[in-house]
Amino acid sequence: MKVGFLQLRPKFGSVRENVRAAKSLLKDVSEATIVLPELFNTGYLFRAQDELMELSEPVTSGYTVGEMKKIAKRQTLNLIFGIAEKKSRKFYNTAVLVTSKGKLYTYQKTHLFDREKLFFSPGEKSYAVHEVDGVKIGMMVCFDWCFPEVTRVLALKGAEIICHPANLIMPYCLDAMRTRSIENRVFSITANRIGTEKRANMSLTFTGNSQVVDPSGNVLTSAGERSESLKIVEIDIEEAKNKAITTNNHLFKDRKVSLYKPLVRKYVG
Ligand code: ACM
Repeated sequence: MKVGFLQLRPKFGSVRENVRAAKSLLKDVSEATIVLPELFNTGYLFRAQDELMELSEPVTSGYTVGEMKKIAKRQTLNLIFGIAEKKSRKFYNTAVLVTSKGKLYTYQKTHLFDREKLFFSPGEKSYAVHEVDGVKIGMMVCFDWCFPEVTRVLALKGAEIICHPANLIMPYCLDAMRTRSIENRVFSITANRIGTEKRANMSLTFTGNSQVVDPSGNVLTSAGERSESLKIVEIDIEEAKNKAITTNNHLFKDRKVSLYKPLVRKYVG
């Protein structure tokens, strides 16, 4: 199967322009699963909640998801991308999966980064795996990388590919994602953005270097940090089904769950 990423340089607040740019860069691709960055349609650095009110969209009736569904259907693509979701007076930093057959799934980012906590609500739904064209897809968003529990839960639920829309500002995340792939024997696709956003007295530079990683931690393809970039590779999904580390070690069967209890207790300091 063909998988890849579209690394972008979104322009803050220009939803239609950003969606058009993605559409244009995707125009020659078909029959693939492609990941786009977090908040690819709005940009990242919201100054205040009224901006989010204006730029966010309901998933089921919003402009962005509507356009992405059309692209997915026309070009036989499965697309995973980040948007600002408006739902029942709350806002979520949401990853959306639209399939070539018209199915729609969402994941609302659970681990909000820094100022995101001022505007977005954390997602509360458990991590879900979606079977698309016989392949099991799990989604996480950017800073979720810092919580290995997310990838682990997805992998235990059967995820074979972790799709990871991101707006990274810490470059070492990409190394961490190689580890997430190794320790779960899953493919991971991190679609990062590039560019600098300057808003009011804030400035953030995003690190690019989007990548596709295999279950042994090999980077199959990656982008630089300067340009928008579409990269697609052929993968063998069977590699993610084999959880043997040696003939005597199974990644999941060897776990010592009775010793892991602190992992599921609330930290009280
Ligand atoms: C991030 O979670 N966007 C750093």
